[in-house]
Amino acid sequence: MTEQALPNGVNLIKAPKHNQQQSLKDAVAEGFKRTPKSTPPLFFYDTAGSQLFEQICKLPEYYPTRTEHKILRGNARAVISIVTGEVELVELGSGSSAKTRILIDAILANQTHLQYIPTDISTDFLLESSVTLKNEYERLSITAIAAEHSDALQLLPEGGSQSRLFLFLGSNIGNSEPEEAISFIGQIRRRMRAEDRLLIGFDLVKDRQVLFDAYNDKAGITAEFNKNLLVRINRELGGDFDLNLFDHHAPFVETHSRIEMRLISRCAQEVYLESLGQRFDFKEGEYIHTENSYKYTLKGFESLCEMAGMKMQKYWFDERAWFAVGLFHKASGG
Ligand code: AVI
Repeated sequence: MTEQALPNGVNLIKAPKHNQQQSLKDAVAEGFKRTPKSTPPLFFYDTAGSQLFEQICKLPEYYPTRTEHKILRGNARAVISIVTGEVELVELGSGSSAKTRILIDAILANQTHLQYIPTDISTDFLLESSVTLKNEYERLSITAIAAEHSDALQLLPEGGSQSRLFLFLGSNIGNSEPEEAISFIGQIRRRMRAEDRLLIGFDLVKDRQVLFDAYNDKAGITAEFNKNLLVRINRELGGDFDLNLFDHHAPFVETHSRIEMRLISRCAQEVYLESLGQRFDFKEGEYIHTENSYKYTLKGFESLCEMAGMKMQKYWFDERAWFAVGLFHKASGG
């Protein structure tokens, strides 16, 4: 484990090299063998992709971020009051930590000091937001963990006398396959003690047009975010993808209750990837499946968490019941 002390008191823990995520090259080599061709959503988030995602969060059609914010703003104190004693905050996939501020404020209204442990796959983004946050809150200490979620849980320092509130917000859970989500929530559970709590933000099934518009916005930012993957493959793997020959399309697929992000080939074409030394054929209309975004019913999500050994203690909605934030504890018996 590499631990590095930063000038302003923010600590960084970085996953060792051998633990670091599957490379883009391996992911593409493996995913392009499948039908349909696919890539893991993880690779959206290079610097440009992370910035585009920040823009998506501000789009009028993209309701999840602002709806979750609103739920947290209205209920942060209620959430914190359920966690007993002093609280330490662990945030998995913290991004810019924007909504975390709401919870930080609520916690610091009750205690003099807060230990915040954000984790994120992008070291630069994590450090930048940690430094910004530290400058805003004097009574905060930050130990940032630069790693993919599962690795971050392994690298998490042992808890002290305070209760831990684990956060997994932003409907990030929706980008995992249900089996992976169960396994991941189970991994969090293994790091939790009886007094600890897990707060998850998840997106709900709703009007199909609302869902469609959120992933097929008029300004074309989601299309740019999706196509940025091709930009990245061109740059990092010596690819010759022509971005004009692929269309973004993100339908809601009823049978799986998920939005599927797709890049559809406009014509029959061949793409060469230098670092793989391979050509890939695309038929007209064939697509690369780049992401799933699962939409749950409350019942469905509750039973998924039960399969991971977690019990829902309380949940909060917005007034349209478009999004939910649930607070979970370990189910008894383990
Ligand atoms: C990060 N994640 C929760 C987003 C979502 O809504 O599934 C990613 C995203 N993809 C397209 N738009 C946003």
